[in-house]
Amino acid sequence: MTEHVTFHDHSPKTLSLYEAVVQGLSRPHKMIPPKFFYDDRGSELFDAICAQPEYYLPAAEHRLLTRCADELADLVGGGRVVIEPGAGSLKKIRWLLDALQPSAYVPMDISHTYLQSAARQLAAAFPWLPIHAACVDFSHSMPLPRQVPEGPRLVFFPGSSLGNFHPPEARDFLALIRDTVGQDGMLLIGVDTKKPAAVLDAAYNDAAGLTAQFNLNLLHRIQRELKADCDPQGFRHHAFYNSAAGRVEMHLVSAQSQRLRINGHRFDFDAGESVHTECSYKYAPAEFIGLAADAGFVPVKHWLAQDDLFGVYLLACG
Ligand SMILES: C[S@@+](CC[C@H](N)C(=O)[O-])C[C@H]1O[C@@H](n2cnc3c(N)ncnc32)[C@H](O)[C@@H]1O
Repeated sequence: MTEHVTFHDHSPKTLSLYEAVVQGLSRPHKMIPPKFFYDDRGSELFDAICAQPEYYLPAAEHRLLTRCADELADLVGGGRVVIEPGAGSLKKIRWLLDALQPSAYVPMDISHTYLQSAARQLAAAFPWLPIHAACVDFSHSMPLPRQVPEGPRLVFFPGSSLGNFHPPEARDFLALIRDTVGQDGMLLIGVDTKKPAAVLDAAYNDAAGLTAQFNLNLLHRIQRELKADCDPQGFRHHAFYNSAAGRVEMHLVSAQSQRLRINGHRFDFDAGESVHTECSYKYAPAEFIGLAADAGFVPVKHWLAQDDLFGVYLLACG
């Protein structure tokens, strides 16, 4: 790696894929946490989903962030350390770097080699920026590399990734961000809004079938990495808006009764039984601001896309 980019491996020491799958499939309602979608293939598929016309979130967020970049620069001030948990391809920070002029950038992701290659590409495009990339599972902690300079911090958390947490966990995660940025810290976050089920159902069932491939990739990963005896083709992708719970749910539904075997464990599926793989909670602006307040943040300003399609919020520590 070039001089101004360092890579730090704080690889997940929490739950492994094996433990998570065995625990999750042993539950009465089978589930696997969404962080296990993201091997190299999962990260590539997520980027491809972001280019689908039905998946309106990245385009709406791009319009908002580029529209408010100069205003953000005034509100945030230059020279902050910018930390991005779940940074993925590192595409979104590019929209803001010239405006924010950070003293350093700390992208964090669970998807190890994808993060390394994205950090190298970013370093080539922004040679003035010190980058300290860290492979981290942010579920319980957000350890920063020791090379990260002192100075005020900003966490950037776009893409409505907060929606993958159930609301009490989302509040805890916001509190973890608050502890990470400290008293003079700020948070810039993209959060999806509630909207008609038809729009959400289309967004999570793109016509090209990429979200289906992304969901099913979890089974391919289990088959390959855990040497599991399972047939991914015996499952289908199912995503829908659960309006009562205010969330999109993604499931893998068993097409027939079947048995999945992993290292001596056996998991039986009835036809139609599902594994719940992801929630994407949607928040009205007042709901999100209330949740952030519970975690110790005060709103500075927020921007809503046309028809309140998506929200970007700047918050400070209260
Ligand atoms: C929905 S994608 C969003 C990517 C990017 N932030 C964006 O807005 O396009 C979620 C990202 O978070 C990462 N991720 C998911 N769970 C994680 C965890 N527990 N710890 C660290 N990274 C995680 C994934 O690898 C993926 O890159």
